[in-house]
Amino acid sequence: MPGHPARFALAATLCGVAFLPSAALADPYASVGLNLLITPTQRIPVGLGVELGAGQTSEFSRRGVVVQGDLIGFETGRVSVGVRGLRPVGPDIPVVAGASFALRTQGGPGVVFDLGAGMLGDLGEAHARLETTLPLRPGEVDALKLRSDRHTQQTSLVAGAGWNLVETFTGTPDTLEGRPLRRSGRPMLPSVATGSLSPSAARWLQRGRTEHASVPAFQQLAAELRALSAPQQLVGRALRAAREEAGHARLCYAEVARRTGRPVWVGPAPRWRVRGGTRAARLARMAKEALVDGIQGEGDAARRAASARDAAREDRVARIEHVIVVEESGHARLAEDVLVWARREQRRGRGVHRRSTGILSRRAAAG
Ligand SMILES: [Fe+2]
Ligand SMILES: [Fe+2]
Repeated sequence: MPGHPARFALAATLCGVAFLPSAALADPYASVGLNLLITPTQRIPVGLGVELGAGQTSEFSRRGVVVQGDLIGFETGRVSVGVRGLRPVGPDIPVVAGASFALRTQGGPGVVFDLGAGMLGDLGEAHARLETTLPLRPGEVDALKLRSDRHTQQTSLVAGAGWNLVETFTGTPDTLEGRPLRRSGRPMLPSVATGSLSPSAARWLQRGRTEHASVPAFQQLAAELRALSAPQQLVGRALRAAREEAGHARLCYAEVARRTGRPVWVGPAPRWRVRGGTRAARLARMAKEALVDGIQGEGDAARRAASARDAAREDRVARIEHVIVVEESGHARLAEDVLVWARREQRRGRGVHRRSTGILSRRAAAG
C-alpha cells in the first residue's frame, strides 16, 4: 500500500475525569477522554482517539491504568494499554510518567513513553507531556506528541491540547528511486521523523529514504556476488555503489534540512542478509533483480534525475541531480554486467548439470 508522503497531526484533546467519592485517603478515580486528530496532509484528514483511565488519587498524586486508541484516516491506528502516574517532586512541581504497550497498524508493535512536568498552584495543576512511541523493531520512529493538560482541584475536569511535533514516515512512497532493499518483494525503507514539511521537502525526504535503502541493497549484492565467486571487480563496484547511494541519501536529507531549517531524524538503514537457496536459484534471483531493480529501476532513476537537472532553477539542485545522473547510470551499467555474468554462470551450470547427468546415465547404462 503506498504511503502518504507526509503525516501531520494536530491533536486537540478533551478529557473528563471523575473522582469517585471515598472515605479512604486514596480515592479511586475514572477518566474518559476524546481526542480529535486533524491531519491536513492526509487524504482523509480526520481521526479520533479515545482515552480511558482508572486509578487512585491522593491529593495531586495519581496513578492508574490508561487505555488509549487513536485512528487517523482509517489507515493509521494505534491501541495502547499501560500505566501512568503523576506525583509532585517538589513543592509545586508535578511529574507525569507513563509507559504503555502499543499495537499499531503501521510500523508494528511499539512502546509508548510519556513524560512531563508542570506546576501546581491555587487554581489546580497544569502540565505538558511529551509522548513518543518507540518501535520494538529498530529503524522506525513514531510521532512525538506534545500535550498539555490542565486540571482544577475543585472541578476535577481536564482539558488538553496536543500537537504532533514530528511527522513519521513508515509507509512506502508512491515512487521508488533506484533499488531499495526488499524483503518478500516489499521495499524496506528507513523511518524518518521531522517537523511538518512542504511538498518539495517531503519529496526530497522520500527520495532520501529510497536512496538510503539502496545502501544495504548494494552491500547485499556485494556479499552475494562474493558468495557466488563472482569476479572481484563486480564485488568492488557493488561496494562503491553502496557508498554512492549513501552519498545520494545525504544529499537528499540535506535538501530537506535546508528547506525546513531543521535536522532530519533518520532511523538506521534496513539490515541485509545473504539469502539462501541453491546456486542456480541464487543466480536466477540475481539476474532478475539486476534486470528489474538495476537496469530498469536505476535506469529510470538516472533518467528522472536528468530531467530534474535540466529543469532545475537552482545551481545547487542541478549539481545534486548531475551527481545522481552520473552515478545511477553507473549502477545501471553495473546491473548490466551482473546480468551478463549471472546468465553466463546459469548457462555454465546447466552445461555442468547436463554433462553430469549424461555421465550418470552412461554409467547406469554401462552398469
Ligand atoms: Fe541513488
Ligand atoms: Fe543507484
